[in-house]
Formats: sequence, C-alpha cells, structure tokens
Amino acid sequence: MCGIVGILGVKPVSQDLIDALRRLEYRGYDSAGIATVENGHLERRRAEGKLRNLEALVNDEPLKGLTGIGHTRWATHGKPTESNAHPHMSEKVSVVHNGIIENFRALRAALTAKGHVFHSDTDTEAVVHLITEELKAANDDPVAAVRAALGQLEGAFALGIVFAGHDDLMIAARSGSPLVIGHGDETMYLGSDAIALAPFTSEITYLDEGDMAVLRRSGAEIYDVSGARVERLAIKSQASSFLVDKGNHRHFMAKEIHEQPEVISHTLSHYIDMAEGRVDYPELGLDLADLSRITISACGTAYYAGLVGKYWIERYARVPVEIDVASELRYREAPLPKDGLALFISQSGETADTLAVLRYCKSQGQRIASIVNVRTSTIARESDVVLPTLAGPEIGVASTKAFTCQLAALAGLTLLLGRARGTISPELEQELVQGLLEVPRHMTEIMADEAQYERLAHDLSKARDVLYLGRGINYPLALEGALKLKEISYIHAEGYAAGELKHGPIALIDENVPVIVVAPEDELHDKTVSNVQEVAARGGQIILVSNGEEDAAGCDLMAHIKVPDAHPFTHPLLYAVPIQLIAYHTAVFMGTDVDQPRNLAKSVTVE
Ligand code: F6R
Repeated sequence: MCGIVGILGVKPVSQDLIDALRRLEYRGYDSAGIATVENGHLERRRAEGKLRNLEALVNDEPLKGLTGIGHTRWATHGKPTESNAHPHMSEKVSVVHNGIIENFRALRAALTAKGHVFHSDTDTEAVVHLITEELKAANDDPVAAVRAALGQLEGAFALGIVFAGHDDLMIAARSGSPLVIGHGDETMYLGSDAIALAPFTSEITYLDEGDMAVLRRSGAEIYDVSGARVERLAIKSQASSFLVDKGNHRHFMAKEIHEQPEVISHTLSHYIDMAEGRVDYPELGLDLADLSRITISACGTAYYAGLVGKYWIERYARVPVEIDVASELRYREAPLPKDGLALFISQSGETADTLAVLRYCKSQGQRIASIVNVRTSTIARESDVVLPTLAGPEIGVASTKAFTCQLAALAGLTLLLGRARGTISPELEQELVQGLLEVPRHMTEIMADEAQYERLAHDLSKARDVLYLGRGINYPLALEGALKLKEISYIHAEGYAAGELKHGPIALIDENVPVIVVAPEDELHDKTVSNVQEVAARGGQIILVSNGEEDAAGCDLMAHIKVPDAHPFTHPLLYAVPIQLIAYHTAVFMGTDVDQPRNLAKSVTVE
C-alpha cells in the first residue's frame, strides 16, 4: 500500500519526512519520493526501490524546505520507475496520492488538449495538472483551485498537496482512503496512518470521508464534502505503543472494513495494468492455456472466496473447478487430474488443514498456487506460485478485508485464465477491468450510510436464527454473511442457495426469522425475487440487499440495503461490504467481543 506523509515545520523537513516514510514501510512499496517548498519554488527527490536509495540521494542533494510531502509508492498505474514515483509536480503544485483516480484517462486527454505535458504514466499526474489549470481560473487561490479540482475527480483517493510560493500551506483531501492530521508545536503533520506521525506528535485528527483540510503552522481548517467548515475531534494517538492501531474506529474489524477501498485498489493493481485497462501479471509464470482442471481448497471465509472463484473461473475462463473445504479434501484421497492446478486460499498462510491438502496435492503431481496475505507464510513458501493479497495486517479475528482482497486476486486470475484460453475477448477484458476499477469508489459509497445498519442491528439482535439467501455467485455471499454474523454476534445463522429454500429451510420461516437476501439485479434476480415472496407469504421478515428498488421485491421489507449499480462481475466484491456491516453493527449492539470472539483464533495452525 502507498504511504503519505506531510510536514509544515520550523526546520528543514526532509529527514523527518524520510523517517516518517520508514514507519510506513510495513505497508510495502517499490519507490519513494519527497518534495519541499524552497525559496518559493518546488524541489523534489525521487528514487526507485528502498528508502535508503532516496536517503542517499537527499544526502547528496539536500532539500532545505520547511514544508514538504513524501510518499512511498506501490505501483498501480505505470511501472515502479523514478518517473512514476510521487510526488508528481508542475511548476506550481506538487501532489502525493493514495488510491485510484478512475477518470484519469479523460482528464489527461482534456488537459493535454489544453497544453499540459505529462511526464509519467500515473493517474496522479492528472491531479497535478488539473489543480494547476484550476489555479488559473481561481486567480492563484490554492484552496479554491483544489476545491474545484476535487469536484472533478472520480475514484477513491487520499491527497497531500503543496504549492510553490506558499510556504505556510498544505492541503489534504480524502475520499475512500484514510488520512490523519497531526498537531505539533507550530508544526502540522499529515499521514496516511497515525503510525507515520507517532514520534512527532500523539495529538491527531482523523479526516472524515469527503473532508478537505487546509493546514497552516497555526492549525487546520477542515471542510466537509459540502464545503461547510467543520470541527473534527483531536484525539490522543495510540500509535506509538501499537504497530497497527485502530485509527478512529472502535474495533479493528471496523477499521479493516473501512480500509477495503484502499487495499482493494492495491490488490487489483498488482494484477491489472490500470493505465492500459488490461490484466498484467508476468510473475505468474504458469501456462494457463492447457489446464485440465483447477482444484481449490481453503477453510472458512477463504473457502467462500474460493467458491466465488469457481463461479468466475468456470463462467469466464471455461475451466472446470473442483472446490472443497480443506478439512474434507485432505482425507478424501481424491483423484487429481494430470495437468491440474491446485489453488489454496489463506489469509494467514498457516492454516493446518489447508497446508495438509497442499502437501497432498503436491505429492499427486499438481502444480501449486496460493492466494495468501502473509508472503512469508508456510503455504506461500511451499507453493510454486504465489498470488498475493495486499490487505495489510488483519487483526480482527473475523476476516473482512482479507476476504475481499482474496476476491480481487481471484478476479485477476480469472482474467489471466480467460486471456490465456481465449475465452475473454480484449473488449470484454477492458469492460471487466473497468468494472473492477470502480469497486473502491462503490465500496466507499456503500459505507457512507452506516446508520441504517445500526437501526437494523436493533431488530436483528432479537433474532435467535437468521437465514441468508443468494443465487449463483451470490450464494457464497449468503454463506459468508451467515458465518460473519454467527461468529461475532453468536446469533445462529445459515446461508442457503435460494433455490434450496423449498427443499427444507422454508420450514423454519415465521415472523421471528429474519431472512437476509443478497439479490443484485442480475440474470437470476427474478428467480430470487420469487423466493423472497415465498418467504413473505409465510410471515418471514425480509432484509433485501440489492441495487434494485424496494418495490422490486413485491412485498413489505424489514429493511432495504441499497447497493450502487455496478458491473455484475464485481458484485461479490461489493455485496461483501453490506454483509460485513450487518454482522459488525449487530455484534456491537449486542456488546460481544467483536475483534476477538469467543472460542476463535486468528490463525488455525492445528487440525
Ligand atoms: C472467518 C475467518 C475464518 C478464516 C479461516 C481460514 O471470519 O476468518 O473462517 O477464514 O480460519 O483462515 P486463513 O485464511 O488464515 O487460512
């Protein structure tokens, strides 16, 4: 994940910027850079690779500015070269950026037509030129120019911006990616997380979604998304005592849910060349064209990610996929085909059952690939090929961001398979990539109204049993929703394929059993709606999670959770978020130990 730092100081800031970036190294990066305002103009140093390369450069050619921004970049748009490293700048503006600017191609074309010359392949540079252009219209007023530019950006992002000629000014903005302000003595700080700022100050303010902050040495003015001046609480940071802190969230689980727009951007961009709009992962080093079958195995939430993968891979890449929970597959003595690929999915990379199946598959001559979050884990080390998820450390026991990052990696694999086997045309590939590119923004939209989940929690907390229904690719989401609810709220919940309702579970339906239906408007929507009506006819209380309108259900609903319209390929990534929020808020309402539910461990290293 990329990292942002900024300092408005009273002495040269370059060494402090590098030290702060070092504290963000754990997020992973492949280039770094800093820029400062020096005698009224902008100066910058950037280097590929590790921070020591940047530090050596700065030692040779020091930066003297008292105001500066810094960035560690994990390549998304464009290769990890010096020219693509942040900060990006024009003569007047320098920008560091986390996240994705979705409409950067259109902005770039419009700005190029106006005479702006681009020097990188990044989406970020479009922001630099856009603000530079808006400065002309705003009579060189940086605040007005940034405000005008923000109104034109689509995507999920965090920005830190400094200006030539403005030594006492830094502007920050967030939409989907976190940002924190640090308050020092005549000094202000900016960071993508509090850890970066821990040695400098423990008094911090988290920006809210849509906020823009104008920092001066004397303090910060914060404006909300409507442009109104707002006060945001300054709190004492815990970051110096924890390597990974909760930010301004009550629980790690909440923080991890909210990190999804950012970590999904990073995971997707590991597999997809966003600038080209196509999948790109030469590191895979596997011949995907001749696979006879893929066998997926995993446990719990990771297994449900695999189930989504089965639907995607079979539909788009036309490869047969067998999937089983690892604790079953390990003892089934299943015959495995010649030229088969065995794929393992695990956040920790240490799950005992998953590892046992991996070893069995290896002994049967399968090629071994794994989707893991911990790159140094045993499963990663014993695999021929690793497809990483870039979720960062997941502390909450209930998996959230690791799950959606597993989906992102599986989406990438599906596109790679489809390309290799000729089942996904270049046009379809562009369409699917565009859909994926929009996921972080849609996730941010979904998280905008959490009050509805708090209201729903009140009703759900009274239930003894809850059913989740979904059809097709939404069926694994129903399973995952039920698992999430039961593990953290201790309410009994089951997920079913909606078509199975009549084959048994319908006997459970009465007015005391809430039924949560995951039903985006896809080709199976009408069939799911029929099941909804069967439930309603028996007095069941329905919570509909859908991009469709409430009346499409044709019956009264207990709640309607509206999800934005999106490409159907991306539905599993998006619908994961409401089901996480339902479980989270219900558990918080019930007062359970959300981050460490009873009887559960984060890493299951025993059978
Ligand atoms: C549920 C959950 C578990 C894990 C499972 C596999 O929220 O987190 O079901 O998904 O224990 O763990 P990993 O992914 O580490 O193999």
